[in-house]
Amino acid sequence: MPHPRVTGLAGFGLEVPDLDEAARFYGTFGLATERRGPILGARCAGRGHDEIILVAGVEKRLHHISFAIRPEDERAFAERLSAAGVTVEASPVAGERAGIWFRDPWNTWVHLMADASPAPPAPTPRQTAGRIDRHLWRELDRDPRPVKLGHMLVYTQDFAKAEAWYDDMLGVRASDRAVGKVAFMAAGSGVIDHHCFGFINSTHRGFQHASFQMRDMDDIAMAVWRMRKAGYTGEFGPGRHALASNLFHYLRDPWGSWIEYYADMDKISDAWTTGDWNELPYVWGPAWSPEFWGGDMNANREPR
Ligand SMILES: [Fe+2]
Repeated sequence: MPHPRVTGLAGFGLEVPDLDEAARFYGTFGLATERRGPILGARCAGRGHDEIILVAGVEKRLHHISFAIRPEDERAFAERLSAAGVTVEASPVAGERAGIWFRDPWNTWVHLMADASPAPPAPTPRQTAGRIDRHLWRELDRDPRPVKLGHMLVYTQDFAKAEAWYDDMLGVRASDRAVGKVAFMAAGSGVIDHHCFGFINSTHRGFQHASFQMRDMDDIAMAVWRMRKAGYTGEFGPGRHALASNLFHYLRDPWGSWIEYYADMDKISDAWTTGDWNELPYVWGPAWSPEFWGGDMNANREPR
């Protein structure tokens, strides 16, 4: 019998030192936030589950990774984990995120969520052709919100092994790699996003960034404008990535990690073959700064 496979990224968790600041940051970013006892939930409007769960901690730290699975695969996953010697444990966030919890070989909590609400379809970019006798500027959304969590990237000190373990145990597979640096990984079947998850080669485990989908470049830029006005000025963008081709603009969160708005990412099908590339991370964007990309953007600021 083939191994069960996750169908996508459902969410993630972070420990942060200040949940009030987290609510202000992610609220301004465009997510609906809700404080429930010791946790803060954050999600795109209309989603049926929290895409981010924040818990109080001494320092910012990756808390968990949550993948969606088909309800009928729950038993197969439990058996697969058990056969591999992985112990299924009680939820470390009691009352939140029902499903299967376990720790990967690097001691990171992983959650498998059956019945995760399906992601909405990608929004259609604004039609700007045939614009005669119109004011486009008056039609723009001045307060755009993300539509879904698209992907997250995690630092690992065990680059090749981490990719192999997640492929084997969870069925997320590399769609493209930046050789020795990044493994972009996709999940699901049929026509799917180029990646929903990935690893970045580093000195230790940590959260690098999460990315939320926007309608188009105008919505990305307008949301960045909203963040700037609220005082969140650490940013990197805009640009268009290589490998997944998505438009991007990153913002620094209050604890030094990055969060990204993206739009217009490549889709892949079962015909896709994994590529190994030696490319710069973007085809256009901010002035090239090797110090920034290698030193700051990819600095793992998480405690060991
Ligand atoms: Fe990204």
